[in-house]
Amino acid sequence: MTNDISPLVVAVDGPAGSGKSSVCRGTAARLSWHYLDTGAMYRAMTWAVLDAGIDPNDAQAVANFAKKPDIASGSNPYQPTIEVDGTDVADAIRQDRITSAVSAVSAVPKVRQLLVQKQRDAAQLAMRSGTGIVVEGRDITTVVLPHAHLKIFLTARPEVRAQRRALEQADGGVVADTTVQATEAALVKRDELDSSRSTSPLVKAEDAIELDTSDLTLDQVIAKMVAYAKAAAR
Ligand code: DC
Repeated sequence: MTNDISPLVVAVDGPAGSGKSSVCRGTAARLSWHYLDTGAMYRAMTWAVLDAGIDPNDAQAVANFAKKPDIASGSNPYQPTIEVDGTDVADAIRQDRITSAVSAVSAVPKVRQLLVQKQRDAAQLAMRSGTGIVVEGRDITTVVLPHAHLKIFLTARPEVRAQRRALEQADGGVVADTTVQATEAALVKRDELDSSRSTSPLVKAEDAIELDTSDLTLDQVIAKMVAYAKAAAR
């Protein structure tokens, strides 16, 4: 039995394509815990910014707008949901136009302030209801939940991350080398933007466990996560 582990807050950070979403969903499902994808919240804010006709690179306009949309995340790992003012945006937030604009929107301090508060509230609510939660993002171990019971920094080599992302986008079909190369270039660029911004850059927390997923299957990574959770719960 794995779900007899006492409830914990597990914070997970890592770059795009490191396997965060599948690993965190899978871990939360195995433990019957909640799951929160904070990247989806920044994507939802970006969707709302574009939907309102605001230039995502106009930081002041984005900051003025940020309080308006109601961004709601459902934390069931089997069926995570994301809505903006009651509209399901789960598919729309994966479009390229969102991916290209999300780094600019997520660098706006007002956006981060609002979404970080929601993320902390979600963790608190889960623990109050006696359930653990796995929260994934870029600044969860460092800024959002620095006192989490368990902190993990997931990594993978850039070419492995690009291959995974390209496969995801092709929905499991065959992917040409040029597509993987283009995806790798886009990933490296987004990593640079996310790691070099002044507000909450992606960095490994000193006390986070680094887990390289390059040569592991999803099941192997989830098994490691569950083992870390068991150890942290002792
Ligand atoms: O995990 P993802 O690729 O869906 O995240 C989308 C973007 O959101 C990513 O480029 C960086 C940003 N992000 C962030 O700034 N802070 C987080 N906690 C999560 C994501």
